[in-house]
Amino acid sequence: MLKFLKIFVPASTGVASILALAYVAADQFVIDVPAPVREMVAVQPAMAQEAPAAEAAPVVVASAGAGAASLAGGYGLGRPALAEEVAAWDTDIRPDGLGLPEGSGDVLTGEELFVEKCSMCHGEFGEAVGRWPVLANGFGTLTHKDPVKTIGSYWPYLSTVYDYVQRAMPFGEAASLSNDETYAIVAYLMYVNDLVDDEFVLSKENFTEVRLVNEDNFFMDDRMETEFPLFTQEACMTNCKDTVEITMHASMLDVTPDSGVVRAQPAAEGAVEAAPAAEEAAPAEEAAATEETGGVDMALIEDGEGVFKKCRACHQVGEGAVNRSGPQLNGLIGRTIGSAEGFGYSNVFNDANAAGEVWTVETLSAFLENPKGAMSGTKMSFAGLRSADDRAALLAYLQHASN
Ligand code: HEC
Ligand code: HEC
Repeated sequence: MLKFLKIFVPASTGVASILALAYVAADQFVIDVPAPVREMVAVQPAMAQEAPAAEAAPVVVASAGAGAASLAGGYGLGRPALAEEVAAWDTDIRPDGLGLPEGSGDVLTGEELFVEKCSMCHGEFGEAVGRWPVLANGFGTLTHKDPVKTIGSYWPYLSTVYDYVQRAMPFGEAASLSNDETYAIVAYLMYVNDLVDDEFVLSKENFTEVRLVNEDNFFMDDRMETEFPLFTQEACMTNCKDTVEITMHASMLDVTPDSGVVRAQPAAEGAVEAAPAAEEAAPAEEAAATEETGGVDMALIEDGEGVFKKCRACHQVGEGAVNRSGPQLNGLIGRTIGSAEGFGYSNVFNDANAAGEVWTVETLSAFLENPKGAMSGTKMSFAGLRSADDRAALLAYLQHASN
């Protein structure tokens, strides 16, 4: 409501001042209130009740009265358009040929005109110069990733070609073509799109006989029937899925605040009961508790095994893992930083070790994302894993492989 008021108040005072102006004017000249304004006046009092700030409402009503009283005789502005003026605007041509002017033109004349007036941008055969629009070919590409949409491959009706060319082209000199010139150029455009041969003459008479190849792929907007019912069904709010599966752990995705706790999402009713116990457990045991609550996701672990290939040159994990150029990585979560026996760590690791710092999902994820950023001075030469998904999968794998 608050937001609505803020927007509404300036808007309503705006309307009110326009109407107040109309009221003043109505006194001096005879001015009718335009129909749309009258409609606004009609809704105004009802809305004004909702918005205490709209004190201007009485003025609005008064001006409506004045407008209604002064009536008839138009606005005192302008004059009726001449038939010639209407005709100059009324040049649209419908697919059924309605609106086509008298005239005709052949392919060869069209070619000359096209080369002279259009080819510097569209190419002599409509193939386009540089990045100007292509006008020919592209057939069969509409389902491709980069479809070539031309008047031959894409446009549904020839009437649009005529209408568009005469109305808008040549670019910069719009509406300069005569009817016969336009017929000739359209005939040539059909020729370069392999729709007619070079003897073809296009005229008002045979215009609608020409069909473009993509016409049938255009259809009336049917979303009211095909889509609207799907979106307006009552939404399912309970038991909408037969089975519930864990696809990812929020803590591994890095979306939960750092609490140092690895928690499994409840997989089913039974798992919910086990969860509080896991929360109370010491950090080292929680990782294991996660598994017991049904949090094992083999697909994730397999992904993680794939990611671990990037580490394998320097690290080992699992039974019998030993230090290589990097320390062994067993039981990492909950393990004191820099504590792999017999490994010579860098100073930053030794400091963290002395301070008793322990690896958590969060600190590991941060270290793996950007080793040098998280542990400035580390001797681990690894650029980092940018993808949160990769890190989550990797950690799931490391945890699994340690057991
Ligand atoms: C100065 C460059 C230039 C010239 C010359 C020119 N055009 Fe164009 N043409 C354009 C541009 C730019 C567009 C795209 C306009 C837009 O999308 O608003 C265009 C668009 C078109 C289209 C629509 C293409 C599509 O698929 O959307 C047709 C058809 C066309 N021109 C025909 C012609 C004809 C016929 C002539 C000569 C009588 C001509 N043009 C001369 C630049 C030019
Ligand atoms: C080029 C060799 C190399 C690569 C590749 C590498 N590491 Fe390391 N890693 C090291 C070294 C060396 C250290 C010790 C860092 C220090 O002392 O500064 C280390 C330390 C670690 C630690 C800290 C362990 C502890 O005991 O505190 C973790 C965790 C770790 N690496 C994980 C990974 C993971 C996961 C990958 C793959 C995504 C990886 N590393 C890639 C060399 C590497």
